[in-house]
Amino acid sequence: MSQERITTLLTEQRSYVPPVHGKSTAWIRSHEEYEAICRKAQEDPDGFWGTRAQQLLHWFRPWNQVLKSDPEAYKYEWFAGGRLNAAFNCIDRHLISGRRNKAALIWQGERESEVRCYTYQMLYTEVCRIASALSSLRVRKGDRVALYMPMIPELIIAMLACARIGAIHTTIFSGYAEGGVRSRIQDSKAKVVITADAAMRAGKPKPLKANLDPILEKCPSVAHVVVVNRANQEVNMDRRRDIWWHDLLDDFTLDADFPCESMDANDTLFLLHTSGSTGKPTGVMHATGGYLTYAAHTTQWVFDMRDDDVYWCTADVGWITGHTYMVYGPLALGATTVMFEGVPNWPKPDRYWSIVEKFRVNILYTAPTVIRSLMRVGEAWTERYDLSSLRILGSVGEPINPEAWMWYRTHIGRDELPVIDTWWQTETGGAMIAALPYATKLKPGSASFPLPGIDAAVVSGDGSEESDEGGHLIIRRPWPGMMQGVYGNPEKYRSYFERFGAYQSGDGARVDEDGYFWILGRIDDSINVSGHRLSTSEIESVLAAHPQVAEAAVVPMPHDLKGESIYAYVTLVDDAPWSEALRKELRDVVRRDIGPLATPEIIQFVGSMPKTCSGKIIRRMLRKVAAGVYEDFGDVTTLAHPEVMDAIIAGCRNLKEGRPER
Ligand code: WT7
Repeated sequence: MSQERITTLLTEQRSYVPPVHGKSTAWIRSHEEYEAICRKAQEDPDGFWGTRAQQLLHWFRPWNQVLKSDPEAYKYEWFAGGRLNAAFNCIDRHLISGRRNKAALIWQGERESEVRCYTYQMLYTEVCRIASALSSLRVRKGDRVALYMPMIPELIIAMLACARIGAIHTTIFSGYAEGGVRSRIQDSKAKVVITADAAMRAGKPKPLKANLDPILEKCPSVAHVVVVNRANQEVNMDRRRDIWWHDLLDDFTLDADFPCESMDANDTLFLLHTSGSTGKPTGVMHATGGYLTYAAHTTQWVFDMRDDDVYWCTADVGWITGHTYMVYGPLALGATTVMFEGVPNWPKPDRYWSIVEKFRVNILYTAPTVIRSLMRVGEAWTERYDLSSLRILGSVGEPINPEAWMWYRTHIGRDELPVIDTWWQTETGGAMIAALPYATKLKPGSASFPLPGIDAAVVSGDGSEESDEGGHLIIRRPWPGMMQGVYGNPEKYRSYFERFGAYQSGDGARVDEDGYFWILGRIDDSINVSGHRLSTSEIESVLAAHPQVAEAAVVPMPHDLKGESIYAYVTLVDDAPWSEALRKELRDVVRRDIGPLATPEIIQFVGSMPKTCSGKIIRRMLRKVAAGVYEDFGDVTTLAHPEVMDAIIAGCRNLKEGRPER
């Protein structure tokens, strides 16, 4: 389909009805059915969530109370008094249900020839071995285990092994650099770190263990490091601290039937750090019972998961999407989940389509940034493959622009598959606003409606009235997937609720005349680069720590592929000269400290920042300039020195046209 055709379709503002084929066996078959379920969930939330928890999970002991709330403290305990184990739910119970020899996990390595497949029985054995090994390393219920690992099956095995013994896993994205890894290990006070010698990136090993070694000197909590051999790299092994993963698997003294710990529904299952509004990452905590119920529940309904589906979520397990929709949701349902080690465009931009064909993937869940980059290389790459196994397409991470939505549906979804945009966050545990594939009429670019039982609303700044133009997206009632707290930081947890007396997402949204939700992006100081949330203040503090930098202000800049990219304004100390060498050095500092994702796209040196009379940087204006808007700054009377903006605009223009700023 040509670009013009896509544009015409979009301007016609068509909505897209659900496919007929597949409807009769769908979990939710019509919009009327969806509405009826919503009404039931609204009238009797305890009944609704209790029924789902019972249908979807195996409980060692039933709960006394579906929801125990302390609204003053915004403390919500789901399935209070209930007992279960997440690993038992994701593995053990499938061994006796006829799924014993079903593929639980299909792993595609970066190299085409590297494929590994685990049945539920095989997963069980390895998870037990590692659980037993962790236990012999004195990891106990409630201890934290940090996972700094590439996209290999051992990562999923490690998560489930932690869950089995009641240890709290905290995954650290393998793309993070020193500062990101250190702050996360220190915040969680992990007792054990599991890592690999290296991660494979575009054919080359990228060291992980060597990165970790200097960090560990500043992490006294870590007693042991378990190392997976992924890439046959030389690593330094400290005999008293470091152990090879394969030595643990080969150790026949370790139990291959390691019992699982019976966990309270409100024991923490995992911690996952997300970028907060301050420089310090926020350790989001998820509880075993509520989270697992919500993961299984949303996986089943949003992706209409059937027992014979092959399901592929392309996210990295280091993010919440990988936790909920590659590991816990699909495995709790006894599905087959696909894991891919590589990237979409290496060695050629056909990797995704070849994997869909190779494993006959039925459900594909990916991110708008990936779609845009594959759209750019042209549909010839998609046409070589048989994508007819696909039934449902999903999207997550940022608002999907209607052009990308149309391309996804047309070229990957053969003009008929539902494209399900799913809005949610690390804190929400699972999808909150999302279409249902066989029930919802789709509007490209809208995440459509809140799922049953999710009381989403858009309010204006004072919280009172619902606003037409858009406003703050809040959730008024607790739901099982909601975070349990922020690790070691109860004030931070409260701050999510205090402004509106309800959960504040930090996103802006608008509801149209048909009740469809349109997500407008972050309202706080976060930037969304390729679907990953980064904190502007974290980047600012890394820049400002450089001896030649006086002040830094970081804002988002619209970017064709990444959605947003990072624009940094920097003032230097005294007479430090503006040089290309310093610009490069500053980019490297951020790359090395936080990670490549956080590298500024543009760094502009400025003589001074636009400030209020009280000395606060006016980021609103800097944001406009970065976006290429050089006028209409609104109220400029707050500006202490209005002429500052002219110099900044001139500098920005110069940079964007390839000249130095002055
Ligand atoms: C932020 C959460 C949810 C897993 C991936 C990111 C943005 C996410 C959408 C979507 C519009 C979206 C929001 C949200 N976001 N999905 N479908 N439409 N925006 O998790 O790192 O916790 O980031 O990502 O701004 O607040 P996260």
